[in-house]
Amino acid sequence: MAERVILFDTTLRDGEQAPGYSMNLDEKVRLAKQLEALQVDVIEAGFAIASDGDFKAIEAVASAVKECTVASLSRALQKDIDASWSALRTAARPRIHTFIATSPIHMQYKLKMDSADVLDQAVRMVTYARNLCGDVEFSAEDASRSDWEFLYRICEAVIDAGASTVNIPDTVGYTTPDEYAALIRGIREHVPNIDKAVISVHCHNDLGLAVANTLAAAKAGATQLECTVNGIGERAGNAAVEELAMVLNTRKDYYQLECGIKTSEIYRTSRLLSSITGVAVQPNKAIVGANAFAHESGIHQHGILAHTQTYEIMTPASIGLHTNTMVLGKHSGRHAFVDHVKALGYDTEDKSIIDEVFTQFKQLADRKKSVSEKDIEALMENRTTAVPATYALESFVINSGNRMTATASLTLKFGKRLLSDVSTGDGPVDAAFRAIERITGFSYTLEDYTIHAVTGGKDAQGEVSVRIQADGRTYKGRGVSTDVIEASIKACLSAVNRLAYEVNHE
Ligand code: KIV
Ligand code: ZN
Repeated sequence: MAERVILFDTTLRDGEQAPGYSMNLDEKVRLAKQLEALQVDVIEAGFAIASDGDFKAIEAVASAVKECTVASLSRALQKDIDASWSALRTAARPRIHTFIATSPIHMQYKLKMDSADVLDQAVRMVTYARNLCGDVEFSAEDASRSDWEFLYRICEAVIDAGASTVNIPDTVGYTTPDEYAALIRGIREHVPNIDKAVISVHCHNDLGLAVANTLAAAKAGATQLECTVNGIGERAGNAAVEELAMVLNTRKDYYQLECGIKTSEIYRTSRLLSSITGVAVQPNKAIVGANAFAHESGIHQHGILAHTQTYEIMTPASIGLHTNTMVLGKHSGRHAFVDHVKALGYDTEDKSIIDEVFTQFKQLADRKKSVSEKDIEALMENRTTAVPATYALESFVINSGNRMTATASLTLKFGKRLLSDVSTGDGPVDAAFRAIERITGFSYTLEDYTIHAVTGGKDAQGEVSVRIQADGRTYKGRGVSTDVIEASIKACLSAVNRLAYEVNHE
């Protein structure tokens, strides 16, 4: 029988540390609940001592999630462990995760400690954590560049002190599959009490080997695999949960391992992360990229039509991606709409959200012949990830051309009032963004702007993601419309609404 591996998701901690991926508390809770639906085993919700925001997010995730273990990261310091434990108090299954670096370069230059002191501190802090919490994970940071004999000793000592998981991270993405597998085998053979702990691996993708290294370690006996959604994380990211799950499913014949992931939730989880963070997945990304199941060449299409498995080793449906695009049109009623929203897995209890999105759907159906699942998803994501709409678009007029200065005239709804202003700019989008600045009185700079088509076809909706910066803080926004200028204005307004929300709640 295939052995079960534990999937430990660190999207909310290692993933969130990467530039451009920061999330607010509500967004973290939404993602954590989706990770629970994906059925990961452990959710690392943050680094409690790092900031007040992290602490509160861990508390909120710990209360919201019931099926998964919830972990908080801590350096091997008493104050970090206390913060983690206090943030985890309401968790059904709390885990304190504590780490200290074990490689010569980290010990000498970062910690300024020798190996005997590192070992002593690791043992004292694992003992301390274990007196608070029954589930303690110890990580030997930069393990892949550490002395193997020293790793064996520290693993044995922390297991004796009560660690139930020992994590062997490839912190800088330096190792290779064969080398890493040998290290895991070494730990199994040379740590006398290793049967009392789970061996965990945590791989970074600096050389593009994170998933390969993780799988090689799993084959060598590691039974907890640390990973993130879409492979996000420090620098080049971490091993991607969707890739690990689909490899284990598709190649069970080779790995003889299984995980608890509900693969039909993979696509939704990936989409949710992208829509929360405003960072799109690269089109050729394995499993969840837009091209992962697209067959362009004639030879491939012919093969697929003759027999799907000629060029397809897994089905789009297995990751929850449904390719029957024609679903609703302008004559579809509220019932049919709600049925589709439910089938896509969204909660339809909140009537105000459904009313609002149904109105948007009707407007879209007037502009587009057929409305696809992806269109409905884009409308739902846009609504459910939004903060209250302090400012809403009422109307706009743009004048633009290659021999004139672009001008945007905007009217926004602010409560019951209508506020209007005009601005020129370097192109229509810039003019519209400047008009929003003039109306709202917020001043910001545009950090990032991306646009992509939700579906194919001339009448496709454009989905715009923006990041604006004000007072050193970044705010994301998304907007969808069949008109790309309108999508841009909506995206900018949703970012400005986040800014307004934060200013009003400070
Ligand atoms: O990469 C790393 O070593 C880490 C540890 C803190 C687990 O993220
Ligand atoms: Zn890491």
